[in-house]
Amino acid sequence: MAQPLTIALSKGRIFKETLPLLAGADIVPAKDPEQSRELVIGSNHPDIRFLILRASDVPVYVQYGGADIGVVGKDVLMEHGGEGLYEPLDLQIACCRLMVAGRDGSLLESSQRLRIATKYVKCTEQYFASRSRQVEVIKLYGSMEIAPVTGLADLIVDVVDSGATLRANGLVPLEHIADISSRLIVNRASMKTNHARISDLIQSLKQTIRDSNSV
Ligand code: ATP
Ligand code: PRP
Repeated sequence: MAQPLTIALSKGRIFKETLPLLAGADIVPAKDPEQSRELVIGSNHPDIRFLILRASDVPVYVQYGGADIGVVGKDVLMEHGGEGLYEPLDLQIACCRLMVAGRDGSLLESSQRLRIATKYVKCTEQYFASRSRQVEVIKLYGSMEIAPVTGLADLIVDVVDSGATLRANGLVPLEHIADISSRLIVNRASMKTNHARISDLIQSLKQTIRDSNSV
């Protein structure tokens, strides 16, 4: 009998975009987390279950073995640091860019110490340190776009896709920090103890991604 497998996902964009990839590996969640309050969801396999977590908790669960594998944005993974995790596959879903944005670019030209609002504190500190720029980082948990408009911060660091949220709030993208997509992450111990099953899943996911790229 195959070893059980616990898969950590977050609700919303990641769950929706991961579903077709899992279907290619014949894995189908028993419930839609948008329709159910259950946070542990079974599947069409008695030994495969899903944990529905906050996006930033997915790498933490996988790191400590609460889940064997997970799907997480590279932004969240960079902020977590990736300790105790393998990152064997770029799933090429939930694609966006991590960017510096603000009302205009003039503040970046000035030598004043900048205040940056973001939920990506580590990434922001590393990015500005790599450019020898001293900044004060203010941690927020969402709606970062309001910070420059209200004077809370000079700039923000956030993910940008179409740019519509920036535009709607009077901001422009200024500097590109990283291209982002979602990654499959695997607990290091599970990779050894459940190697055959996890390798099979990685191969099926790779094949589904190749097939969808060739359409
Ligand atoms: P939390 O609720 O824990 O703050 P979140 O709001 O970041 O999580 P989602 O909005 O579902 O969660 O985003 C999940 C991932 O999808 C992000 O980590 C990022 O990699 C990617 N993402 C975020 N916004 C977009 C977007 N507008 N377009 C494409 N991908 C995005
Ligand atoms: C994300 C992100 C931006 C927006 C960017 O928010 O935090 O606000 O998407 O996308 P755009 O460039 O296409 O406008 P999301 O819609 O996920 O809502 P959230 O704030 O709840 O994460």
